[in-house]
Amino acid sequence: MRQFERRNGRLGTSIVILAAGEGKRMNSTLPKVLQPLAGRPLLQHVIDCAHAVGADDICVVYGHGGDQVRAAFADVPVRWALQAAQHGTGHAVQQAMPETPDENQVIVLFGDVPLLQADTVKGLRDASGTDGVGVLTVDMDDPFGYGRIVRENGAVVRIVEQQDASENEQAIVEINTGVMCCPAASLKQWLGQLSNDNSQGEYYLTDVLAMAVRDGIAVHGVKAANQVEVMGINDKKQLAEAERALQRRLVDELMIQGVTFADPNRVDIRGELSCGNDVFIDVNAIFEGKVTLGDGARIESNNLVRDSRIGPGTVIHSNCHIEHSSTGSHCEIGPFSRMRPGAELADRVKVGNFVEVKKSTVADGSKINHLTYIGDTTIGSGVNIGAGTITCNYDGANKHRTVIGDGAFIGSGVQLVAPVQVGKGATIGAGSTITKNAPDGQLTLERGKQTSIEGWQKPVKKS
Ligand code: UD1
Ligand code: CA
Repeated sequence: MRQFERRNGRLGTSIVILAAGEGKRMNSTLPKVLQPLAGRPLLQHVIDCAHAVGADDICVVYGHGGDQVRAAFADVPVRWALQAAQHGTGHAVQQAMPETPDENQVIVLFGDVPLLQADTVKGLRDASGTDGVGVLTVDMDDPFGYGRIVRENGAVVRIVEQQDASENEQAIVEINTGVMCCPAASLKQWLGQLSNDNSQGEYYLTDVLAMAVRDGIAVHGVKAANQVEVMGINDKKQLAEAERALQRRLVDELMIQGVTFADPNRVDIRGELSCGNDVFIDVNAIFEGKVTLGDGARIESNNLVRDSRIGPGTVIHSNCHIEHSSTGSHCEIGPFSRMRPGAELADRVKVGNFVEVKKSTVADGSKINHLTYIGDTTIGSGVNIGAGTITCNYDGANKHRTVIGDGAFIGSGVQLVAPVQVGKGATIGAGSTITKNAPDGQLTLERGKQTSIEGWQKPVKKS
């Protein structure tokens, strides 16, 4: 009856993430769990997985690089337990227990196993039932270094660490991934009974399995679908391997949604990329932070797009650098354009080669085709900006705005010295340095008179 009530009254899930280890093999001043994978710290991936599992309570056990680790996750809703000295995985889990409710199920995850997927963890939780213990295992081609799953008549009876394994046990290829699920009350008792009488002098979390068997509690070994998902990251080689695996996973998801990649192996997504229908992405495109690509958007080769929104039908030609910017529909950018923070293009805008746009809005159909700097500017619709135009927005101390009205035409090689306004339909003659507002509809020029000197002699080289 009690069993029945609990199953329907849903047990709470506490997830404990172990992240106190030093990660010596990274040879880095950055703590291991802060090393970036697809643009986010390893630990962030594990915390995201914990949230996706639907944890009611997430506790990160930290130690090495403590302040740095906590600072990196200051805004993340988790609780922290300090493991001041690392006496093993059992000792680490123990640090999280005082505030863990007895009636919860505890799932242990490792901060350096970042590719683990929420569905796998949920599967383990379901298989464990309300009173049982679950351990996620996998068959490894090369099981060296891992804890081995010892089974008798098919049932898991204990885990033996590499350093403590007999020759027969070392031949076992089914290994402990480290992911474990236990009822909190039992776990607390078992952790209290751990001893460090083993070859590493550590309190092994894995020893609780044998205790469960001793106490007549069912132990469920659940095999993960593949080795990659449960790989632990200890050095830069494994980090790079995980990066490729994760990139492939992200690209596969997008291809299923209908995105076309010229080469699924030559793209990097370091954040969240959302795509509409019929998006095409060429080789060596890098997406960082939150990027949205509208229906039919086309990203050509060698582009970096960071925290930006690219509208439907917009084409980003090769070799552009785009950050904190947005475009409307059917714009064309590049090749070789730079969109800096606050560049906001409306529809059908063209930004051509060697053009830099910063903190400026450009209304429908305007063109800035060549060699231009547009900063702190408001450009109306249907404007044409000639080659080599520069908005002189900075006086050495402060920034000032330039405003260009609808339908204006700015000739080539013009400097617009802000603050300044160019009226609607105005034309600015090429080569002008404009320091005063230019009225609507008129031609405004600022130029020295052209002179030619008759009989002028070219200088000759002295002998
Ligand atoms: C552990 C398991 C082993 C398993 C392997 C999978 C134990 C005793 N062994 O071995 O069965 O096959 O993981 O990768 O559990 N940590 C702490 N505090 C500590 C010790 C470790 O927070 O005192 C953390 C580490 O930061 C890491 C995780 O626990 O995230 C695993 O520690 P690690 O030393 O890598 O365990 P292994 O010896 O590889
Ligand atoms: Ca160890």
